Amino acid sequence: MMFQIWLHAVLLFCGLFSNVTGAFVGVNIGTAVTNMPSAPDIVAMLRAHQITHVRLFDADAHMLNALANTGIEVMVSVTNQEVLGIGELPSTAAAWVTKNIAAYVPSTNITAIAVGSEVLTTLPHAAPILVPAMSNLHKALVASNLNYQVKVSTPNSMDVISRSFPPSAATFNASLNSTITQILQFLRSTKSFYMLNAYPYYEYVKSNGIFPLDYALFKPLSPVKQIVDPNTLFHYNSMFDALIDATYNSIADLNFSGIPIVVTETGWPSFGGSIEPDATSANAELYVNNLIRRVSNDSGPPSQPAVPINTYIYELFNEDKRAGPISERNWGLLFTNGTSVYSLALGNSEITGANSSSSFCIARPGADDKSLQDGLSWACGNGQANCAAIQKGQPCFNPDTLQNHASYAYNDYYQKMRGSGGTCDFGGTATITTVDPSKFFLISLEAYCYHPDYFIYQVMKLVRVHLCRVSCWVRK
Ligand SMILES: *[C@@H]1O[C@H](CO)[C@@H](O)[C@H](O)[C@H]1NC(C)=O
Ligand SMILES: *[C@@H]1O[C@H](CO)[C@@H](O)[C@H](O)[C@H]1NC(C)=O
Ligand SMILES: *[C@@H]1O[C@H](CO)[C@@H](O)[C@H](O)[C@H]1NC(C)=O
Ligand SMILES: *[C@@H]1O[C@H](CO)[C@@H](O)[C@H](O)[C@H]1NC(C)=O
Ligand SMILES: *[C@@H]1O[C@H](CO)[C@@H](O)[C@H](O)[C@H]1NC(C)=O
Ligand SMILES: *[C@@H]1O[C@H](CO)[C@@H](O)[C@H](O)[C@H]1NC(C)=O
Ligand SMILES: *[C@@H]1O[C@H](CO)[C@@H](O)[C@H](O)[C@H]1NC(C)=O
Repeated sequence: MMFQIWLHAVLLFCGLFSNVTGAFVGVNIGTAVTNMPSAPDIVAMLRAHQITHVRLFDADAHMLNALANTGIEVMVSVTNQEVLGIGELPSTAAAWVTKNIAAYVPSTNITAIAVGSEVLTTLPHAAPILVPAMSNLHKALVASNLNYQVKVSTPNSMDVISRSFPPSAATFNASLNSTITQILQFLRSTKSFYMLNAYPYYEYVKSNGIFPLDYALFKPLSPVKQIVDPNTLFHYNSMFDALIDATYNSIADLNFSGIPIVVTETGWPSFGGSIEPDATSANAELYVNNLIRRVSNDSGPPSQPAVPINTYIYELFNEDKRAGPISERNWGLLFTNGTSVYSLALGNSEITGANSSSSFCIARPGADDKSLQDGLSWACGNGQANCAAIQKGQPCFNPDTLQNHASYAYNDYYQKMRGSGGTCDFGGTATITTVDPSKFFLISLEAYCYHPDYFIYQVMKLVRVHLCRVSCWVRK
């Protein structure tokens, strides 16, 4: 385990200038809505709110047509009713792919198929057919040469995990071991991802006051209330992170690694009945906006700090036709007339990562040394970048590489000069990134400091060097 962490830390540091793409926040679109807007109207609302990723609970032709040529990425779903037929007959899977995927790509950017919804916990008798269904769909995609573009997975609820706290001790419910092992084998061999429906709202309500509401809502916790995993000493700032780590640990417990988690559903109801006092518009607004901020910072949960947490909010509209408690009909972000139910940070560019205040100019990976040296000399000379911090003995000298020094100088120049027309070019050796370079250092230092392991010493050496580097990139 520690070896893994150590390796991880090393990879993390080496990844400093690798091309990590930013995390996204998408939205689920449920359709149990009276007066559902037309597909083109829905797409207009998505664009108005700069939503770049959506998940559909089916493969509705109107929506798939309306989403064509919008740049919006689409996850479609096989309904629970369809899983059985697709699992039983490869030809049914092939017909499904032809009708619902091949007919729309590439104009509509379908990137994933969610096979069923929480099948293992809501339709346990269908569990044996789930992996065959995924596998049949994958084979049909291979036959259409779409398997690189379209990934197949299946959303699971947190209920497949028997005890989610502390995250380090979480395991899948043993009765699901064999099915989940097959799912993980499938995801690994097809380079797909684990789909997780993670609802701090339900976990908080179930916990009967064990966890503070602030923890579920991503609000800062006072030091006495901080949630620490006793085994790893990771500090959990939010229940959202803890649920994801519980899932990563359950996956690791079955000896799988390298399968990223995508949160296919999370959210907070804005209204509820008298026995649902936490379903309020104020809480929903806090949860959703803090979630967007959390995901957009691109860091992963404590156990996987370099793996961004791509997330789909549940959901676009209040589904007034759903049964169940009042809260069930109040998860929406928007009314059907397009106005938001509460104030939303979705419209601002945080969600797309395009906000210029969070872009960095760094040396392009792979740029040749000679050109980098020219760029660096120019930036620190005529460009008037402040290059003091990258001189020998200064805090941003390490790592002592041309890539690092040029990145620092380029960024300093760019941040100062872009207002007056300065560009991020440097003879083609520079590139803009919205990934905060300091994010690579956001690891729980305490966890390493206290771990009585041999590797700690090595890790600490790296951490010290790199910790200083955080300050090199903190926004000015
Ligand atoms: C579709 O989405 C993928 C994944 O982000 C992206 O690489 C690709 O360029 C997109 N394709 C189109 C046609 O927009
Ligand atoms: C595990 O799953 C079984 C069968 O679905 C269920 O009866 C049991 O309560 C679950 N155990 C835990 C600890 O969640
Ligand atoms: C399920 O996996 C866990 C962890 O590897 C193991 O302890 C347990 O015995 C397994 N249960 C079954 C029924 O295979
Ligand atoms: C995982 O690997 C360990 C060490 O090789 C082994 O002892 C354990 O039984 C494995 N667990 C499973 C669920 O395969
Ligand atoms: C990003 O989120 C993580 C997890 O909540 C947090 O530890 C970290 O401080 C955040 N980083 C920034 C730059 O806000
Ligand atoms: C949109 O619908 C909501 C809920 O029905 C209503 O409260 C709001 O006033 C409407 N907004 C506009 C601009 O019509
Ligand atoms: C970027 O975000 C900041 C803070 O949210 C905001 O003040 C600023 O106006 C935004 N800039 C642009 C170009 O959108």
